Amino acid sequence: MSQTSNDMENLERGKGRINETKSVADVDDNIIGELINKSQEAKEFAYCPYSNFRVGAAVLAPNGTIFTGCNVENACYTLGICAERTAISKAVSEGYRHFRAIAIASDLNEQIISPCGGCRQFMREFGAHWDVYLTKPDGSYLKMSVEELLPVSFGPADLKGTKV
Ligand code: THU
Repeated sequence: MSQTSNDMENLERGKGRINETKSVADVDDNIIGELINKSQEAKEFAYCPYSNFRVGAAVLAPNGTIFTGCNVENACYTLGICAERTAISKAVSEGYRHFRAIAIASDLNEQIISPCGGCRQFMREFGAHWDVYLTKPDGSYLKMSVEELLPVSFGPADLKGTKV
């Protein structure tokens, strides 16, 4: 598929869908270890008096900066926010819009923590081709791309599609 200069411009701004099938370079194992550690540390701050289900997340920016987050619940239950969205919002609010990976931690011993549908869509806003590490407390993980977690997704470029 040929690319117009407009497509290239969108791509540079991280807006375009073109070339999004390109896979991102693998993140170094040591950095993944650190990312998972930080997600586990963030879990310690979880505010979850209603569910008693602690979750932590750590998101990695291209320059190596890591932002962490935990779930923050509320007496008005629907206002609670997941750990992933806390971490990503912290990053975005400090000027970051591109991410290489996010690690998610919970206390589930026997199974990996799987992000909710809302968080999958929230991640997808910032690209479909970056890595999500679904972890267990022992540090083992399943790596999936955002696209694998949310196939045939709706994203920013779709808003610019030709309309009737
Ligand atoms: N939760 C997260 O923070 N991330 C997930 O991936 C799954 C669920 C939170 C939301 C709520 O505070 C609690 O876990 C129980 O659903």
